[in-house]
Amino acid sequence: MWYFYNYSSQIAILAMGMVISWHLRHVPGPLLSKITKMHLAMYDFSYSRNDQILEWHHQYGPIICIAPNEVSVATLEATKEIYSATQRWPKSNYFDNFKGYNRRSIFATKSHEEHRAKRKLTSKFYQASNIYTVPAIEQHIQERSQTVLRQIRPGTQVDIYSLTDCYALDIITFLVLGPHHCTQSVENVCLERQILMDLKHLQFVGPLRLRCPIFCDYASKLLDTLSPGLAYLQAEDRLASWCQQRISAAMKDPDFDNSRSLLQHILANLQNVRPKLSTDHLYVEAEILDNINAAEATVAVTATYLQKIRKELNALAVQENGLISFADVNSQVPSLEACLREVYRLHPASSGRSERLVPKGGRTLSNIYLPEGTIVTNSVAALHRDENIFPNPDHFLPERWLEGDEEMLNRRLNQLIPFGYGGRVCLGKALATIEIKLLIAGLYRKYKTVMTESSTHASMRQCSTHDAVPWGLQCVIECQLVDDDQQE
Ligand code: HEM
Repeated sequence: MWYFYNYSSQIAILAMGMVISWHLRHVPGPLLSKITKMHLAMYDFSYSRNDQILEWHHQYGPIICIAPNEVSVATLEATKEIYSATQRWPKSNYFDNFKGYNRRSIFATKSHEEHRAKRKLTSKFYQASNIYTVPAIEQHIQERSQTVLRQIRPGTQVDIYSLTDCYALDIITFLVLGPHHCTQSVENVCLERQILMDLKHLQFVGPLRLRCPIFCDYASKLLDTLSPGLAYLQAEDRLASWCQQRISAAMKDPDFDNSRSLLQHILANLQNVRPKLSTDHLYVEAEILDNINAAEATVAVTATYLQKIRKELNALAVQENGLISFADVNSQVPSLEACLREVYRLHPASSGRSERLVPKGGRTLSNIYLPEGTIVTNSVAALHRDENIFPNPDHFLPERWLEGDEEMLNRRLNQLIPFGYGGRVCLGKALATIEIKLLIAGLYRKYKTVMTESSTHASMRQCSTHDAVPWGLQCVIECQLVDDDQQE
């Protein structure tokens, strides 16, 4: 009887769903997705959302319904329309989940005006002309990258994912907090290392936290006290308190005004930015915390999937300090650039959920009308694996960036969007690029790398979590010294 009741009530709910919210019935896509959110949720819980949406695009076309009020698009034209700075499609409620200290950083800000002012406040700090030219920044990244290399013992196994995660944290904390308050987690067994590890495990709780945030909040506090093994559930809170303590220490530093940190930059310019921001100190802290979050995992995920370069590196001039300069690595190593592009194409290190809302009055994309308020995201996977632009789309083929006519190369470049698109494109692109290139260049000048048995196809499967982490949360490789006379 209970089963019957339960079953019939589910049918009733489904039927109600069909009547009430089937307003995207004209949009191609799986029938179940049009009437219940649970269909997409199933793929969220198996961390395969992005792969499944790609599959649906192959089946149903470039504009598809993925949930009763949600649409995914797979064309560049639609992507330009949704994300361009002039169109102003606002971010969805999904970004409410990324507030820090209950304040909205740039990433989590929804209103266009407020976003413009906040972005103005920090964009100068992160633009390539600052990141690539301030000597102290390159020196620090070079020093951190050499410290990573010192952790590697030739012929022994190393988890390059954990190591690059620490590397990225040490660099972003240097930039946002200044030289006296950054971490040195690459070489030291420290609290921050544990937080990083716990944050990785927390990725897999993401789908549940997004759906039941209050329940998860209470449950994680309770479980944390019951079992130390579940302490990772509180990792975000621990990072938030750690970050506040460091900010406070950095601000008390007598040398703060000369630190050239993001914190100092924001505080110095906060009053002058227009339109005026009604913010408080917690907003500043939220921005710093968000930048640490944004920079730490993304860079590590990319470096992890970049395991394939040497000839061109050896042709570069070595400076007096024994290192090669970023300017040379960036401009004279096309094979590194090509491999990096293939990694960005096949393994973009972001959630795939750049959700926006259709503005007032609705919009038509590729002849399909979308009502106002519909949630729309582009499928980066579908754009990056478009057969017409990237033949053999599932294969890692750096040569596709090194040969072929200019028009096709430009089309490929336009459709490669791992850092997003338009008015809210990633602020950290230049920083990510210098970090990844210097580390990989340093590594491959000295070593060749081989995957080990513990890094299988299954363990390296990229999951649709917020940071698109590998399933096994590690990438164990072996680095083998390259003899000078073996080098091509
Ligand atoms: C490989 C590394 C990275 C990738 C793939 C990546 C990807 C992205 C993407 C796709 C977005 C757009 C989200 C959207 O449109 O909804 C974004 C935004 C952002 N990223 Fe990154 N990111 C990376 C590294 C970094 C780093 C190192 C920082 C450090 C500061 C950073 C800071 C930000 C910020 C502040 C935003 C928000 C921009 C805005 O809303 O105006 N990212 N990132």
